[in-house]
Amino acid sequence: MSQSAFPANFIWGAATAAYQIEGAWNEDGKGPSIWDFYCRKEGAVYEGHSGDVACDHYHRWPDDIGLMKEIGLQAYRFSLSWPRIIPEGRGAVNARGLDFYDRLVDGLLAAGIQPWTTLYHWDLPQELFLRGGWMNPDIPLYFAEYAEVVVRKLGDRVKHWMTLNEPQCFIGFGLGTGVHAPGLRMDWPDILQAGHHALLAHGRAVQVLRTLGGAGTRIGWAPCGVTSFPATESLADIAAAKQYMFAQTQKTGMNNTWWGDPVVFGRYPEDGIALYGAAVPKYTAEEMKIISTPIDFYGFNTYNGTPVRAGADGRPEVVKQAPGFPINVYHWPVNFDVLRWAARFLHERYGKPLAVTENGLAGLDWVMADGAVHDPQRIDYLQRHIAGLGRAVAEGVPVEAYFEWSLMDNFEWNEGYRQRFGLIHVDYATQKRTLKDSAYWYRDFIRAQSSGGKL
Ligand code: FCB
Repeated sequence: MSQSAFPANFIWGAATAAYQIEGAWNEDGKGPSIWDFYCRKEGAVYEGHSGDVACDHYHRWPDDIGLMKEIGLQAYRFSLSWPRIIPEGRGAVNARGLDFYDRLVDGLLAAGIQPWTTLYHWDLPQELFLRGGWMNPDIPLYFAEYAEVVVRKLGDRVKHWMTLNEPQCFIGFGLGTGVHAPGLRMDWPDILQAGHHALLAHGRAVQVLRTLGGAGTRIGWAPCGVTSFPATESLADIAAAKQYMFAQTQKTGMNNTWWGDPVVFGRYPEDGIALYGAAVPKYTAEEMKIISTPIDFYGFNTYNGTPVRAGADGRPEVVKQAPGFPINVYHWPVNFDVLRWAARFLHERYGKPLAVTENGLAGLDWVMADGAVHDPQRIDYLQRHIAGLGRAVAEGVPVEAYFEWSLMDNFEWNEGYRQRFGLIHVDYATQKRTLKDSAYWYRDFIRAQSSGGKL
């Protein structure tokens, strides 16, 4: 790569989430979350794994910051565990839980790493689930109270906030297909109602963060950027891919506009309203105003995409990929150009500055005979995805940051520890960390970027 497309102030980071790495599931006054219960359900998670110990990051965080420093991360995206901070979801605050994040933030800043903090990455306090969880109309208020506790403690130092991680998943998988906690299979009216409450929770948290956050606070969120990309670069295919990316034609939580349009435009998309009919929640104009409280950046978690072309009638048509197309260990397709189109289309629709809040590869990683973890496919994946992102940036799309998923191997939800996404290998039996080749590649890449982008 010659001169970098990325501006000098572009932020290079890596991401994790509390339940996936912290462990210490019942220590220092933490309350249980829905994932603590879900993992104990027979057959729910691969081989009965749980996040009880995970990467033991709760105890090993100083060393983990040391590893982040070794990689040269400029920012670290992590989430706060709501039940660690407020064990019952509302009411009494657990000072020891809050202090953990206080120390973590100080440690990051001392290492010169910006904290990017997510309020909710799926570990709902179990006690709130028992009160209806996302179905409870009061949950947006509880979420706002939680946001207030957190921002009062950390807001002088944390400048970058994300409210929700992937409502598509925690509503769609958690309450729709039931493959994530709390494992329910509700009907569409209930799913959409719960989704509406999640959007309201987002909006109320934005208001709290905006009012109480310190100078320079930037607020966003991290939905999944379900992406379509054009099968060829013809204008017709580009238009078709974009149309497909923002269309709502199937009853699935996995889409962009049902979530993104209320947040940015203050309305549900027309095609979604037509599709869901009577299942669309009743809401007031005031609620939509809250949901669309302005955010500063639009995060997106993107791992892959769907190739689309303009069909004979000009309408978008999904293109079947050739047999043997690249996949990750999850069997998700690998589409190297996906960040370029995700960024471009999301910016064209929503007009916000963007941040890639997750992108990465699940691989077949183990510590090899020479003691190293060679993961050339992850290096290639990162290199080519980042190059695609660079094209979007060169084309004028305002992207501010890139977070690789994940800093280290961790508990991959219903897949347990089967999937390894880390830059750092974790031996769960000993908690030994080993930087993979990709971590060294990323280190060199970040260094090259900061010295003018020559690679
Ligand atoms: C995303 C989640 C993240 C991780 C990656 C692989 O959907 O936000 O926690 O599991 O997928």
